[in-house]
Amino acid sequence: MSSDTELFHPVIELPDPTRAARYQRLVGVDHIKERLRREASVLADPASLTRWAAQHHPAAANASAFTLLRDRAPLLLFAGDVGSGKSALAESFGCDLSDSLRVPVLLYRLKLAARGTGHVGEMTTLIAKSFEQVGAEARRGRTGDGRLKAVTILVVDEADALVQSREATQMHHEDRAGVNAFLAGIDQFAGTATPLLVVLCTNRLAALDPALRRRAAATFEFGRPTEEQRHQVLTTAFDGFELSPGIIDKLVEITGPRSDGTPGFTFSDLTQRLVPAALLRAYPFEPITPDLLVDVATDITPTPAFTDQAAA
Ligand SMILES: Nc1ncnc2c1ncn2[C@@H]1O[C@H](COP(=O)(O)OP(=O)(O)O)[C@@H](O)[C@H]1O
Ligand SMILES: [Mg+2]
Repeated sequence: MSSDTELFHPVIELPDPTRAARYQRLVGVDHIKERLRREASVLADPASLTRWAAQHHPAAANASAFTLLRDRAPLLLFAGDVGSGKSALAESFGCDLSDSLRVPVLLYRLKLAARGTGHVGEMTTLIAKSFEQVGAEARRGRTGDGRLKAVTILVVDEADALVQSREATQMHHEDRAGVNAFLAGIDQFAGTATPLLVVLCTNRLAALDPALRRRAAATFEFGRPTEEQRHQVLTTAFDGFELSPGIIDKLVEITGPRSDGTPGFTFSDLTQRLVPAALLRAYPFEPITPDLLVDVATDITPTPAFTDQAAA
């Protein structure tokens, strides 16, 4: 496995136990996981669709329905609020994909530095080089006779700056070049059955270049947890703590949106702020009590909703 350390973080071969556990810990997003598994399987291994068709619709082998599905660019967009699990899922769903396709999955993550320093032509070269390397890896994932050996995933996290709309007025020439290079990079794989998936994560779907949004085979929208999802996250987090009945419900209520328009807690407000804060307030001498939990939850201000203004 060769990869350029200037362009990518160390390549990870999935499944690995840490990431498999991370995937499992993402709760309340089964609908996303489910759809992602299908989209990713078919994009990475179109033959799986052919096998399905042979079984269920043997007379339809040449139907354009299949071509339509196969000709899509292998681009998946993960969009939504901060702390909603985009990065966590992007970097772990390969474990699930590996299980369902029964091949290893190679996870490439583009480095922020690969976005260049703004010198003319630099962004274009870096993006072209990234696609070249990832493409070469991905092509090794299929044998000469078409058998699937491995799938390559490229994650471009916090992609906003890289691929924001070419129409944005304040945009530099160099950024426009970034979008163009990215489109060219992704287009060369459409319909080629190369076992490659590109996942682009963004907080600002609206700011993404429209051409890129159109290219995406699927867009997954991530949001703040609903009442039921908060319940699930908290129940999982405090499993076995033997808290008095009703306290989880109380927390679910406190962590929800307020009538004054304050948004509810994000997933990460729950898992990375509330839960650790509660444990550390009780540790080392006290047990966790309902009052303590209510205090901790009340003290936390939910992450403000992400707006394009806030990012500017
Ligand atoms: N659905 C979820 N279930 C449980 N924890 C979650 C979920 N989504 C996010 N988290 C937690 O929030 C953390 C931050 O999520 P992250 O993927 O970095 O958010 P984003 O990339 O959308 O800003 C994760 O590491 C995880 O601990
Ligand atoms: Mg993220």
